[in-house]
Amino acid sequence: MTDTFRLGGDLDVARLGYGAMQITGAGIWGPPRDPDEAVRVLRRAVELGVTLIDTADSYGPYISEELIRTALHPYPEHLVIATKAGLVRTGPHEWHPLGRPEYLRQQVEMSLRRLGLDRIDLFQLHRINPKVPLEDQLGELAKLREEGKIRHLGLSEVSVAEIDRARAITGIASVQNLYNLADRRSEAVLDHCEASGLGFIPWFPIATGELAQAGGKLDGVAGALGATPAQVALAWLLRRSPAMLPIPGTSSVAHLEENVAARDLRLTDEQFAALR
Ligand SMILES: NC(=O)c1ccc[n+]([C@@H]2O[C@H](COP(=O)([O-])OP(=O)(O)OC[C@H]3O[C@@H](n4cnc5c(N)ncnc54)[C@H](OP(=O)(O)O)[C@@H]3O)[C@@H](O)[C@H]2O)c1
Repeated sequence: MTDTFRLGGDLDVARLGYGAMQITGAGIWGPPRDPDEAVRVLRRAVELGVTLIDTADSYGPYISEELIRTALHPYPEHLVIATKAGLVRTGPHEWHPLGRPEYLRQQVEMSLRRLGLDRIDLFQLHRINPKVPLEDQLGELAKLREEGKIRHLGLSEVSVAEIDRARAITGIASVQNLYNLADRRSEAVLDHCEASGLGFIPWFPIATGELAQAGGKLDGVAGALGATPAQVALAWLLRRSPAMLPIPGTSSVAHLEENVAARDLRLTDEQFAALR
């Protein structure tokens, strides 16, 4: 099992990344309860060898990107910051697709400014907006890539058919869909990504913390391996596909360290099959 994945043919990332949505306030709205701990989490992630950090303009909004810059700029050479746009926020827990080309362009420009970057390594269309032709949404992002402001494009919450439609319009490097041991509705999308050389970034990799709780189905394997349930959930994902790039989210250094250690956990064939 290799621990790295080559995104878009030229960008190597350590497969276990970090999702920076939890370093915001309740409902992914406003600043986090403990901004200093958020900065420590981001710095510790990089120290531990995380090279893929996922964020979005809409986390906070802006707060997550701003904290990434505060904690990590100037960025280490191999750090890939993957951000997104395509969802507007009207309040805590409220998200609305908006894919008008001029809006997507504005959000790319603003993410560049907030993150202090000249080019975004991976820019993901957070949602396809059904009210705007896909050609217009991806076309604008592809133009920004031609202008050197984006290196690779990704999709989020898409079907196999949508991936194929998108790839007929322009080159795509990754797909980010909800996927974890307890919710595998995106199994076909994962297989399609693996077969097509696309990275698959599962969001909610530990089911928003549910799979980290003791007393569930992961206890047996966790006990046998001397690991925690969260680590088993992540090790299972890493084992499931070489294209899998989990981005567990946390606001605490202790949880981050626990999650990153899942990189070194090896499930036996029997344990992998039983959990599957
Ligand atoms: N593309 C999309 O539409 C989309 C949607 C949602 C999320 N995302 C991305 O996916 C990332 C991951 O999703 P997520 O953060 O919502 O869910 P997640 O990674 O499945 O779980 C995060 C939750 O689990 C808790 N947790 C993390 N590690 C733990 C551990 N070792 N033990 C106990 N609890 C633990 C966290 O609380 P603590 O803070 O207390 O650790 C947090 O509440 C996000 O950060 C974001 O980057 C993308």
